[in-house]
Amino acid sequence: MKIKSFPEYEQAYKKSVEQPEQFWKEIADNFLWRKKWDKILSWNFTEPKIEWFKGAKLNITENCLDRHLETMGDKPAIIWEPNDPTEDHRVLTYKQLYDKVCQFANVLKNNGAKKGDRICIYMPMVPELAIAVLACARLGAIHSVVFGGFSAQSIADRILDAECNIVITTDGGVRGDKKIPMKTVIDDALVRCPSVQKVIVLTHTRTPVSMIKGRDVWWEDEIKKIETQGKKEFIAEEMDAEDMLFILYTSGSTGKPKGVVHTCGGYMVYAGYTFTNAFQYEPGEVYFCTADIGWITGHSYIVYGPLSQGATTVMFEGVPTWPDAGRFWDIVDKYKVNIFYTAPTAIRSLMSFGDEPLNGKDLSSLTKLGSVGEPLNEEAWHWFDERIGKKKCPIVDTWWQTETGGFMISPIANVTPLKPGYATLPLPGVQPVLVDEKGEEIQGNGVSGNLCIKFPWPGMLRTTYGDHERCRTTYFATYKDLYFTGDGCLRDEDGYYRITGRVDDVLNVSGHRIGTAEVENAINMHSSVVESAVVGYPHDIKGQGVYAFVVCPNQHGDPELARKDIMMTVSRIIGAIAKPDKIQFVTGLPKTRSGKIMRRILRKIAEGDTSNLGDISTLLDPGVVEDIKAGAL
Ligand code: WT7
Repeated sequence: MKIKSFPEYEQAYKKSVEQPEQFWKEIADNFLWRKKWDKILSWNFTEPKIEWFKGAKLNITENCLDRHLETMGDKPAIIWEPNDPTEDHRVLTYKQLYDKVCQFANVLKNNGAKKGDRICIYMPMVPELAIAVLACARLGAIHSVVFGGFSAQSIADRILDAECNIVITTDGGVRGDKKIPMKTVIDDALVRCPSVQKVIVLTHTRTPVSMIKGRDVWWEDEIKKIETQGKKEFIAEEMDAEDMLFILYTSGSTGKPKGVVHTCGGYMVYAGYTFTNAFQYEPGEVYFCTADIGWITGHSYIVYGPLSQGATTVMFEGVPTWPDAGRFWDIVDKYKVNIFYTAPTAIRSLMSFGDEPLNGKDLSSLTKLGSVGEPLNEEAWHWFDERIGKKKCPIVDTWWQTETGGFMISPIANVTPLKPGYATLPLPGVQPVLVDEKGEEIQGNGVSGNLCIKFPWPGMLRTTYGDHERCRTTYFATYKDLYFTGDGCLRDEDGYYRITGRVDDVLNVSGHRIGTAEVENAINMHSSVVESAVVGYPHDIKGQGVYAFVVCPNQHGDPELARKDIMMTVSRIIGAIAKPDKIQFVTGLPKTRSGKIMRRILRKIAEGDTSNLGDISTLLDPGVVEDIKAGAL
């Protein structure tokens, strides 16, 4: 599967465009199938309908676990580094991970889980999170992992949307010096979720919890039952390549988050192929991705991609700056990490601490670096290259999305010539096009436009859970016969791609995707708020910050207190990750005569660029603009 030189890349790319089915068939042949497909690909982007390897039978966990047992059973699959560096780390070999996954799949079954059920997982970064994910997959249940930083309300929305019948959680979580009462958050969420029959709770922080009779059970007790019953194996459920593997919720420009659906066969092939190629993973290498399994990066590049390739994957429970800003480098040193994959926001944050945290850290094991989540600006690129990679490690800047399942535009380490700030070239099988406002394709190089993809790839989303029409309108209706990414993009004179950021009302804050409409809805829940408008502004560390313009006419007291109240509301409704960085109280919002908020003007003001606001003559009351300008933060 591995591309070893640039001419090989060019050849593979050409083949993937001219004979896509043959190309992906040969890749898919490297995986373990119980039965091969009836048809490699059928598709149209109108409905849309996308099927890869239909009729093939498999279980992804046989690819991630069983098939490695004979040759690599004793090799570490997961190395777990706890939040507190003075506590013991854990290593799970492939055999141990296999045993634990089988055991927990049996626990799920004992608790009524069956193929096709939706199971919500709300856990911190502990090995049992990966075990829970894989156990669901082994049993054929569809997992819906919710990031540990989301609020009870966000969790409830997701559980209701997917009609989950089981929740898996822990008593608590800990990140840096912060404790998260996870079970209590789940209890709050479940008040609204009658579909949930069982809650399985792992002991982790020993935070006191209340257990509801008949509904809540302890992970450890359930494991004991399996041991008493003498059950060791769990025969993996046979899945069709197009059966759902998981749902992962992500924000868009309108409404509530949508459940992006990935299926078993195509996703597996794509995550494995892109992992092996972009990072040129070699047996024995230690790979550390700093993401959380609550996001797609963790699904594809902590769990499924690496494990399907027999890699050793490091899972880290904590945060980059605790107990100090050298934590990542301690971990690299401790486990002799070879491949280190992180986010631009983390790089910029660590960069701001200077060189001191690097002192005495041996980073010589590193051979490849990666970045994901937002554009990697040149300053951060060079710091990463010089200080961390010592100018000998390629930086793999991977552009992709929750919806794409895996890397789309990305260098192949030591194969693709790099350019700072560029995601470089499309991987084989990916056919990007740039389009103008009218949806016309912009040909040639040295051009910019909206980034679309014109041909299906195995890892792409199939639908949005429970609402296929929403999938169609969000991704396939803006431009005919194209998948629209929501990103703006430049293709330079050499045909290299540079992502310039979202062109819709979606913010990218520290690599987290946040819908402006969602934040506005949360702010508007506050009793004294009449209306609000949220935009992004450039932020040194986070990439983008959240700037809220809030109409709050009866706010007469201390504005600082009112700001705190509103922040609290957003935290309660969505989660701390969506909290505004700046809140400006305004008397009115700039609206057109038809009542539409002119966000363009607010964006300019938030950016601090008030010199050229463009045409404001269509505004209902141009006067409000002066007021807003005067009060800008
Ligand atoms: C959006 C997708 C894919 C996992 C992490 C985020 C932005 C992602 C890059 C990159 C520039 C990037 C895009 C994209 N993005 N990677 N290497 N360079 N921008 O997943 O939450 O689905 O967000 O993140 O704007 O559309 P996500």
